[in-house]
Amino acid sequence: MAIISSRKQPPESDGQPESQVKAKAKSKKSPPPPDENILQSQATVEETDKQEESIRPHRFADYIGQKDLKDVLDIAIKAAKSRGEVMDHLLLYGPPGLGKTTMAMILASEMGVNCKITSAPALERPRDIVGLLVNLKAGDVLFVDEIHRLSRMTEEILYPAMEDYRLDITVGKGSSARIRSISLAKFTLVGATTRVGALTSPLRDRFGLIQKLRFYEIDELSKIVLRTAELLNTPVTPEGATEIAKRSRGTPRIANRLLKRVRDYAEVKSCKEISQPVAAEALQLFQVDPCGLDWTDRKMLSVIIENFNGGPVGIETLAAATGEDTQTIEEVYEPYLMQIGYLSRTPRGRVATKAAYDHMGFNPPNEQLSLL
Ligand SMILES: Nc1ncnc2c1ncn2[C@@H]1O[C@H](COP(=O)(O)OP(=O)(O)O)[C@@H](O)[C@H]1O
Ligand SMILES: [Mg+2]
Repeated sequence: MAIISSRKQPPESDGQPESQVKAKAKSKKSPPPPDENILQSQATVEETDKQEESIRPHRFADYIGQKDLKDVLDIAIKAAKSRGEVMDHLLLYGPPGLGKTTMAMILASEMGVNCKITSAPALERPRDIVGLLVNLKAGDVLFVDEIHRLSRMTEEILYPAMEDYRLDITVGKGSSARIRSISLAKFTLVGATTRVGALTSPLRDRFGLIQKLRFYEIDELSKIVLRTAELLNTPVTPEGATEIAKRSRGTPRIANRLLKRVRDYAEVKSCKEISQPVAAEALQLFQVDPCGLDWTDRKMLSVIIENFNGGPVGIETLAAATGEDTQTIEEVYEPYLMQIGYLSRTPRGRVATKAAYDHMGFNPPNEQLSLL
């Protein structure tokens, strides 16, 4: 499978929060932010290329979890193969690090075709997408990451390409301008996004399959940790793998990243294997708590609880208190806090739940209890 990568740097969200904390009161439990945020689930391009490629699964059988997604795609692949057709366009959405890019690549290799990888910010000018489209061979997969960020012109070129495998190009200017159509090889567009709501509806409607990736269960993440440990030649006990899995926010990319940090720790401390206590000690050192919450998560919860009596609190306030931008809070932090039932979203803002009070070691106020 040939992979032609034209990715640009992912958006700003990879930065580490400077402690520009604007919240009035300081949390009694809040240590300063760590120097490196190992939970941040966005990958930088270098990381993706160097580290992730070596451990990325390449076959359906190695792709752990996401059973619903796999079932749907399995049928779609078999049906397309038996009819000798290309697969329908597929949109994958969900928080970063859950396996969207991996699935696109597996899909191409299962179909036995090439996968061209690009991302919306690299397709700013119309000729970028035109160049990619005309070079596609029959059956190829074109993977467009962050597809919600396509420019309007690029999107309009994609409409006839997706619908009729046709490229409409305007030749000439003014009154002599004419539209020339070029036919394209039949291809499958796989789009990935963390913000499905930000897609325009004409684009969304052109995908035959729209699939959500969900957070992983602990046992699935444990399997991922064990598999990666084997690839890295790092001995880890099942309990050690589970300890890492529990702190991985339901996200394979984070599980793999935590495993690497724990491996460093085990090596430096001359531990012969990653056991449960070794994993727990190491992750405590990296300020990843037993639920996988990091400094930013805890800061968000403590601001809501201590400064705003449990909420509701606007997203801008949380962004200011943590030094993250609102988009990162919405796409990376909130989904997991909501998934584990620590945060709820109301029309007036974010509210901390009783479980969040318990986790942070506060007693919920009485009036708050009746709302939860
Ligand atoms: N289902 C899975 N099974 C095993 N490893 C996975 C799975 N999903 C993701 N990973 C690992 O997590 C990393 C991040 O996945 P990726 O597909 O890049 O996420 P996304 O594109 O959704 O941000 C990959 O390098 C891969 O090693
Ligand atoms: Mg990706």
